[in-house]
Amino acid sequence: MKIAVTGGLGFIGSHTVVELQNEGFEVVIIDNLSNSSEAVLKGIVAITGKTPIFEKMDLREKAAVHNFFKKHNDVAGVIHFAASKAVGESVGNPLLYYENNINTLVYILQELKDLPQANFIFSSSCTVYGQAEVMPITENASIQPAMSPYGNTKQIGEEIIIDVAKATNIKAILLRYFNPIGAHPSAEIGELPIGVPQNLVPFITQTGFGIRQELAVYGDDYPTPDGTCIRDYIHVVDLAKAHVIALQRLLNKQNLDKVETFNLGTGTGSSVLEVIHSFEKVSGQKLPYKIVPRREGDVIEAYANTEKANTILGWKTVFSLDEAMASAWKWEQKIRN
Ligand code: UD1
Repeated sequence: MKIAVTGGLGFIGSHTVVELQNEGFEVVIIDNLSNSSEAVLKGIVAITGKTPIFEKMDLREKAAVHNFFKKHNDVAGVIHFAASKAVGESVGNPLLYYENNINTLVYILQELKDLPQANFIFSSSCTVYGQAEVMPITENASIQPAMSPYGNTKQIGEEIIIDVAKATNIKAILLRYFNPIGAHPSAEIGELPIGVPQNLVPFITQTGFGIRQELAVYGDDYPTPDGTCIRDYIHVVDLAKAHVIALQRLLNKQNLDKVETFNLGTGTGSSVLEVIHSFEKVSGQKLPYKIVPRREGDVIEAYANTEKANTILGWKTVFSLDEAMASAWKWEQKIRN
């Protein structure tokens, strides 16, 4: 059975391609290499022994999207990762984000709706909840006004899918990720941030390796036990497996609604200092860091209520924070040596 994976050479996409191939799916990757590299294919092959089909194309080109689905009209589903994801960049260049994240979504849905198997998995984010009032966060928590164009593209994306599913053949699962980290345990694939990482874990591993001088911890005066922000850090392999399970749910017609939504997190919140200590433990070295003022737009805490995903998808995370940090560290060392 053939599955199209957009952004399949990216961080979460590549790990999902591995899990799909391990489950026997044939994968066709769409990627424009704007934030990824063709070398990732080698890593996927090293792990799975199978080469996915790779179509280098830009989903902003409507005609190319049409031609893709004409050629691959036998796909049984689409997992859509391709998107821009830098919050700060989206504030400075919102039109890039609306074009990359919204136009492309519309073009894909326009083609998917006419296919016999119109199954769609969408990468959403816990950012849609803003600062939720109640922890852990359930899927019923209210959606808060987006704090950035990036966050807005995830909210609008969800709304577009809901509207389109009502009017067409399309069935969809919206997956709201908490904070994906780590790398494949083999260290054949992992995260490849371009330039200075904005996210915590790649910044930590680069600092551990000596590429960055020290980590800036954004605020230690939050109303949390140690004063630093709390997030739900989920191992990317656990996250990837959830996509395969969600897809199988649609393929097996087990979905109860045309669009279903699931939080994907571990259910455990960790503070920035706890993440630093986890890194120090697994790497056996001290991490240089200093406390600096808060970063604009950061919420105090966000961690998932995972009950819906655990019971309905029958999925739960298996990797600990330490295991995720160890895999991120192994990957950082591998790509630098
Ligand atoms: C961020 C985005 C979120 C997006 C996700 C994608 C913001 C406000 N949110 O989540 O919308 O879906 O990335 O990956 O940008 N931290 C430091 N020092 C650093 C970097 C981070 O102290 O150098 C802290 C942050 O204050 C935060 C935690 O580490 O408390 C996690 O930060 P990060 O990895 O950037 O993720 P989020 O901000 O949760």
